[in-house]
Amino acid sequence: MRWTTRDIRQRKGRDKIPVLTCYEYSMAKLLDQAGVPMFLVGDSVGNVVLGYETTVPVTVEQMIHHASAVMRARPQALVIVDMPFLSFQVSPEKALEAAGRMIKESGADAVKLEGGERNVEAIRRIVEAGIPVCGHLGLTPQSVLALGGYPLQGKGEEGDRLLEEAKMLEAAGCFCLVLEKVPEALAQRVTDAIGIPTIGIGAGAGCDGQVLVLHDLLGLTPDFQPRFVKRYAEVGEIVIEAAARYCAEVRQGVFPGKEHGYKDTSATPPAEKPSDAKSPRAKSSPASKGETSSAGRGAPGDSDSDAHYGPGRSGAAPKATKKKSPGR
Ligand code: KIV
Repeated sequence: MRWTTRDIRQRKGRDKIPVLTCYEYSMAKLLDQAGVPMFLVGDSVGNVVLGYETTVPVTVEQMIHHASAVMRARPQALVIVDMPFLSFQVSPEKALEAAGRMIKESGADAVKLEGGERNVEAIRRIVEAGIPVCGHLGLTPQSVLALGGYPLQGKGEEGDRLLEEAKMLEAAGCFCLVLEKVPEALAQRVTDAIGIPTIGIGAGAGCDGQVLVLHDLLGLTPDFQPRFVKRYAEVGEIVIEAAARYCAEVRQGVFPGKEHGYKDTSATPPAEKPSDAKSPRAKSSPASKGETSSAGRGAPGDSDSDAHYGPGRSGAAPKATKKKSPGR
């Protein structure tokens, strides 16, 4: 079953909603196996994948590129794609055009826009066109130049204003709302005051759901240690260790071993008995000729009929298994 915006809305007040960012095919498969119900193809892709200092340079094309890769994993999760800086601010018409392109070209399920009152008209237009929208209030990283950094938002009277804007976004048709880096008490007030789920990041435990940037949770961004991030693994250390071991083994001639090489099995066996010629094995099967078998993979050592990279062919939902993924 694929998650829908309706499913997400119905979780409010019942179950907490875990959300993670996801920017590519292999991770989408893994996160789907883990049962993450909602992925955000965040414009944080600009920081953690593309190496930009801020999310400001990220383009609509880059978002479509990454969201399309995620969608090719055919996740059960609902996939939200972030509208990048200046794709929605110019006019509601331009916002609708950009949102429509992002949904049509990537196959994602919903878009997210940063900001409050100023986006209400754009959100209305996008929602009326049939595209679900996730709002985003509090710290809005696309405004880094105006904010002069990434400070805590919604302090004092600013909090009342944020609460009003949350109500406006709900009225405009948002199906959920990200609250980033605001005081816990404010996030709780907003969560209690609106009927759509709030998804917090640096907004405390009172929200209806939580979102983290995947690279932060996995320990792939060692220099980024804000208070709101919890590291669930040190994958960065595992990568460094594995890559260093590979380098050492290549240098020492340990890798590749015999088991990683191929034999040419097309040569005629030297002493073939007449009775052998009738046996099925003696006939030239596709695998023995090195052609691709119907399953697209052969046993290791089978000439060149080995598996190769490529999407799974069945389209079936990935199962939690330690086997190689289909097609590899
Ligand atoms: O781009 C992103 O990853 C986000 C989350 C931090 C909410 O907007």
